[in-house]
Amino acid sequence: MLVYLNGDWIPADSARVSVFDRGFIFGDSVYEVIPVYGHRTFREAAHLARLKASMAAVGMDERLGPVHWPTVCTRLAETLPAGDGTLYLQVTRGAAPRQHAFPANAPLTLFAYARPRVSEPAGSAASEMTAVLCDDIRWARCDIKTTSLIANVLLVQEALRRGADEALLVRDGLVNEGAVSNVFAVCGERLRTAPRNHLILGGITRDVVLELAAGLGIAVEERAPSQAELSGAREVLITSSSREVAAVTRIDGRPVGDGRPGPVFHRLHAAFETFKEEVRMGRRM
Ligand SMILES: Cc1ncc(COP(=O)(O)O)c(C=O)c1O
Repeated sequence: MLVYLNGDWIPADSARVSVFDRGFIFGDSVYEVIPVYGHRTFREAAHLARLKASMAAVGMDERLGPVHWPTVCTRLAETLPAGDGTLYLQVTRGAAPRQHAFPANAPLTLFAYARPRVSEPAGSAASEMTAVLCDDIRWARCDIKTTSLIANVLLVQEALRRGADEALLVRDGLVNEGAVSNVFAVCGERLRTAPRNHLILGGITRDVVLELAAGLGIAVEERAPSQAELSGAREVLITSSSREVAAVTRIDGRPVGDGRPGPVFHRLHAAFETFKEEVRMGRRM
């Protein structure tokens, strides 16, 4: 597999980054994950805009790492054997003697590779998941897509330890998002999800689902459900580039609604599948 590193295309096992790289030392680094369907990237412009926003938010100077990401993305997407997968892009503040202050003029480290999508066995319920509620132990800039993910790593591990797939994160009594996903709850007739602010990562899949919901006439309210509202929700969904749109059927071991994916999930999931097909055909981005 060839990876992109600082302007070069190199076999993955011979790609090298300095041990003094600030991504390694401090987690001083931002990233993106871009889905690919049929060799075509999904919402590439929005993902690259979010990467730019993450870099700006942490004061990374783009001039220290010039790269034309669309060209890199196109080349990576072409390498995916079956056409479906994800692109991983990472930018660190470069290698420099260890001190917290930004180094003067250290070139950014630019890294990217493509990962094939793992196909689910036929008949498996890949779009059905379980979750547990956890305290949101992360920092207060969840809108920045940084690789400083130790809190998310611990939260996912806690979910797995408790026999679930995802941790839904509670802060001040509100469920803002998951450890690796955005969260939607069907409360009464409305689909509720946290507003885009510093307490969530503004998911690109979340945006697409909001557009699809509008097209389907599903009323949406961008207000985070409380823990009690989530427990009483008829349906709970999560969205992310890797998991797409999935139904959460149990939370803390208790069934959500009747414990099966509900009608709102089925409508949004079907619309999302159609959207993906259109991306594959080159009719949508
Ligand atoms: C904390 C968190 N929220 C939300 C998302 C979903 O974002 P996207 O739909 O852009 O993948 C992710 C994805 O990795 C995430 O890690």
